[in-house]
Amino acid sequence: MIADYAFSYAPGKLILSGEHAVVYGHPAIAATLDRGIRIAVAKKTFVDGKHSRGPTLRATGLGFVCDVKPDPAGEGPEVLRKALTRLVELFGERVSELELVVESAIPGGRGLGSSASLSVAMIRGVCRFFGETISCDIEAELAMELERIFHGNPSGIDHTVITRGGLLRYEKTESIRVEPIICPRPLRFAVGLASPHGGTLQAVQALKERFARHQKVYEHAFTGIRQIVEEMQMALTAGKLYAVGELMNLNQGYLNALGVSTPELEALCGIARNRGALGAKLTGAGCGGAVIALVDGDPTDVADAFRAAGFLAFLAECKTN
Ligand code: MEV
Repeated sequence: MIADYAFSYAPGKLILSGEHAVVYGHPAIAATLDRGIRIAVAKKTFVDGKHSRGPTLRATGLGFVCDVKPDPAGEGPEVLRKALTRLVELFGERVSELELVVESAIPGGRGLGSSASLSVAMIRGVCRFFGETISCDIEAELAMELERIFHGNPSGIDHTVITRGGLLRYEKTESIRVEPIICPRPLRFAVGLASPHGGTLQAVQALKERFARHQKVYEHAFTGIRQIVEEMQMALTAGKLYAVGELMNLNQGYLNALGVSTPELEALCGIARNRGALGAKLTGAGCGGAVIALVDGDPTDVADAFRAAGFLAFLAECKTN
């Protein structure tokens, strides 16, 4: 039965180790955040006195307010209009009747999975509206279709952790391998926001160009990151947060060497470590975005130190089983 409206939710994510290397077939560890994107889906009402041709989307909290219609006259970011057009291709013309009202608690362009969370929440909202149940695998496949619009050719780690939830190791070679990780300790973070990055696609592409110029050197870095992921998986399973933090610091060193850190991100890492964080690193694409600082206990002090230095910050806890 078709309801009058439906609600959906998808969390954000953070990457504990292995971002960028994961694009080159190495493993990475990611977890879902305890904040995300909510969508209310309903039959469209009148927009500006007339119906627009496609579905409409209104969003707040992504760092901008937009009103998107997938017709040429529609206002709003091109990429969101394309995503809505793809949603119609995936679910059929019936989606053109819909209005999606999006509220995000994840800032956009910060490596915290806002586009993957939006993709998954849109799929869930449309399915729920039409009373359709889909498997986790199909949900991930459909989310990947939208993620391709946002990121070109993503590794798939973001929407995979978001559809499955929890803490996991992800590796994509010829096939995808996902392994849940159970950590006996809570993973608590202070998240410090730097300036938004210029897009995951751009960060991945720029690294690809550097990789092509110094392939052997970059391969060494990726092998080092692989080793960090292996050791971090063991440390997480054993609940050894001190080791997890140390490995995050090491990973940050590699990310800086890969050219995806910035002075702001380095400053945030320094603030967190000086204030007693077990480890701190950028998360996601880098080139701006956010730093996650792992804390044994209450992360409020570290978040306050970020704020005292002029950065926005929030506390986060990851689901660990
Ligand atoms: C983005 O959250 C993570 C990257 O590794 C890109 C990807 O995996 O597609 C930078």
